[in-house]
Amino acid sequence: MTIERQTRRRVLQSILAGPALAALGPTVRAFGQDADGIITAVDQALDIFDFERAARRILPPAHFGYLATGVDGDETLHANRAGFANYSLRVRRMVDLSKIDMSVNLFGTTWETPIFLDPVGSQRAFHAEGELAVARAAKSKQHLQVLSTVASTSVEDVTAARGAPIWYQLYPTDHWPITQALMRRAEAAGCPVIALTVDLQGGSNRVTAARSIPGDPRDCTQCHTSKPPRWFEDMARKPMFRGLDVSAVTDMTPISMNWDYIRRLRDIWPRKLIIKGIVAREDAELAVDHGVDGVLVSNHGGRAEDSGRASIDSLVEVVAGVRGRVPVLVDGGFRRGTDVFKALALGATAVGIGRPYIWGLASFGQEGVEKVLEILRGELLIAMQQAGTRSITEISRLFVVDRRR
Ligand SMILES: Cc1cc2nc3c(=O)[nH]c(=O)nc-3n(C[C@H](O)[C@H](O)[C@H](O)COP(=O)(O)O)c2cc1C
Repeated sequence: MTIERQTRRRVLQSILAGPALAALGPTVRAFGQDADGIITAVDQALDIFDFERAARRILPPAHFGYLATGVDGDETLHANRAGFANYSLRVRRMVDLSKIDMSVNLFGTTWETPIFLDPVGSQRAFHAEGELAVARAAKSKQHLQVLSTVASTSVEDVTAARGAPIWYQLYPTDHWPITQALMRRAEAAGCPVIALTVDLQGGSNRVTAARSIPGDPRDCTQCHTSKPPRWFEDMARKPMFRGLDVSAVTDMTPISMNWDYIRRLRDIWPRKLIIKGIVAREDAELAVDHGVDGVLVSNHGGRAEDSGRASIDSLVEVVAGVRGRVPVLVDGGFRRGTDVFKALALGATAVGIGRPYIWGLASFGQEGVEKVLEILRGELLIAMQQAGTRSITEISRLFVVDRRR
């Protein structure tokens, strides 16, 4: 426990122990927090940050560090959140709001809301049921789920738990037979879309994660080593690599990967292919020129380059580069319904969340993920009503103002 938390706990304990407030102790807690101000049940959550605090308390320090980390000085991580403050909502009044339609269509499938679950690796590091709990939550709340290449559960099992096709995120690896095997497996499992992640080429320097490791006294070698040159042993333990000889793999992303790689993937992948990690207008144009079916604007939640640039700012120029030819998805720092609304107004078709649903998973399993989704949907609904927009297609650039102009 940090000194600050210890102090807060002591102050609260002494207040509750005092004669005037002693009787109020149980009442205060019944309103939804323990003495540290952390929720103890799903229904106590007022916003999704309640789950972040709960996850921080329950997770081993190194696992929370892995979740929370950005790169270098975490500038991009913080920029992702700060970026939303540069945009204000410009709302309209006197609109009949008796019917609100939040649905979006992505590649022929209609979703109840534009909010989807981003690929996040190793989810059993956060909860024993990992990706399966997330799949059940996605099923009960009807959300799109994207599964990571480095998931701790296989694409077949997650698809079965979801009860509908999921999307598959591809780290292609630098060994083509492995790439092919991963894609064949995703195809056989019925994934309609592959999202090729392109933002980790050249690696990433996760300082905050590294700093959290010494604070974690457990022996982690049963699950992973995470240290070169033996890190491929970790990979061999991942369900998506089971039965494959990964000894020739030295990287999750080929260091030489360029636009020709899209052609190669296209030759063997018959379904939709989107590219995850585009942040510049020129690359958005090149992606469309190379025949991708969609672009996901992402800086990996601030875990790729430490550009200090917010994902919401990248969205604006990517939308300009794509010019409506393919859907533009976005993620990075989305924590409020108004954040989602802003991205939709700036031209996004759908918005991904990463850490928020993992906070829900870590603290309360499937129920926690469901509540995170419920809160975000509820907030988006209110934002739409407050802005006088009755459908996602009505949310246009007219509903947002860039404060810097
Ligand atoms: C712990 C963690 C693991 C992640 N694993 C992957 C992954 O395996 N593949 C991938 O493409 N993105 C991965 N991401 C990035 C997310 O897909 C997403 O881009 C990011 O989390 C969105 O930002 P947010 O966490 O602020 O919502 C991961 C993110 C986190 C926090």
